Amino acid sequence: MPISQMPQKGLLNLQKLLPSQVQKIFERANQVSLQREMAKYHGRTATMMFFEPSTRTRLSFEIACHRQGVGPVLFDVNQGTSLEKGESKEDSILNAAAMKPDFLILRCGDELDLEKISREVRVPVLNAGWGIKGHPTQALLDIYTISQNQELKKTKLLIVGDVKHSRVAASHFELASILGIEVGVCGPEEFLIQPSGVRVFEDLEAGVRWASAILILRVQFERHDGTARISRQEYRRRWGLGPGQMAMLDPNAIFLHPGPINLGVEIEPEVLADSRSRVLKQVENGVHIRQSLIQTLLEGEL
Ligand code: CP
Repeated sequence: MPISQMPQKGLLNLQKLLPSQVQKIFERANQVSLQREMAKYHGRTATMMFFEPSTRTRLSFEIACHRQGVGPVLFDVNQGTSLEKGESKEDSILNAAAMKPDFLILRCGDELDLEKISREVRVPVLNAGWGIKGHPTQALLDIYTISQNQELKKTKLLIVGDVKHSRVAASHFELASILGIEVGVCGPEEFLIQPSGVRVFEDLEAGVRWASAILILRVQFERHDGTARISRQEYRRRWGLGPGQMAMLDPNAIFLHPGPINLGVEIEPEVLADSRSRVLKQVENGVHIRQSLIQTLLEGEL
């Protein structure tokens, strides 16, 4: 069978999820958040390969595996692997998959064709951040966090900043379309894209007054190749969330940031202490959503 027709399991993007599946993932996250230990899947293994740096996603997947009884096996790209002898990332993944873990958790850049790889390996793949293409587990945990604070059908989600280079934003557009969430964007023109149905705000203040939830994006300096025209100082002045914008934000609204944060660029440090911040709640929820996804996968539903 040609590779392009091989069945694909796991979660590379959110496009094929139904609203009812998202709801079930959120319900499972609610359940696991009430239980410390759910070692139902004892004896299962997950191989984690992170070819790009990560703190939150990597640690939370590792904790989520342990809580579900799944043994996480970490492939450390920084030392002691055959990458140092010139083996390619693709071959490393194919060999890791040949050992038949129950699933792979992969973070990589755009240079890898995860769609093709995930068909070849015949092991379900969970996308833990793929270049600028998508970060589905992050979007799920963000929307789960918003759902704990407000009804999603009333949510007005403002995504601020480097939308063009953000895999988080890419996954949010998919999820918002599935769930019917109203989305607006704002940021420097050079960083903006406007998927259909998404509203554009020309200045941050107008967006902040409109929003019930704000997702501040990290400026992806490492993906600009030195071509960005806007300076950090100008970005901070026009698009950074500071006390002035917080005064305009509805008292019942919340804001999120997927991390890591460029403090003093997209957010001022004092803003993080505001009661409307859900930044650390996102991190806590990240473990629950990933536990839920592991269950969903191992029950054969992904
Ligand atoms: N949000 C996120 O993906 O953070 P890490 O890069 O630290 O995993």
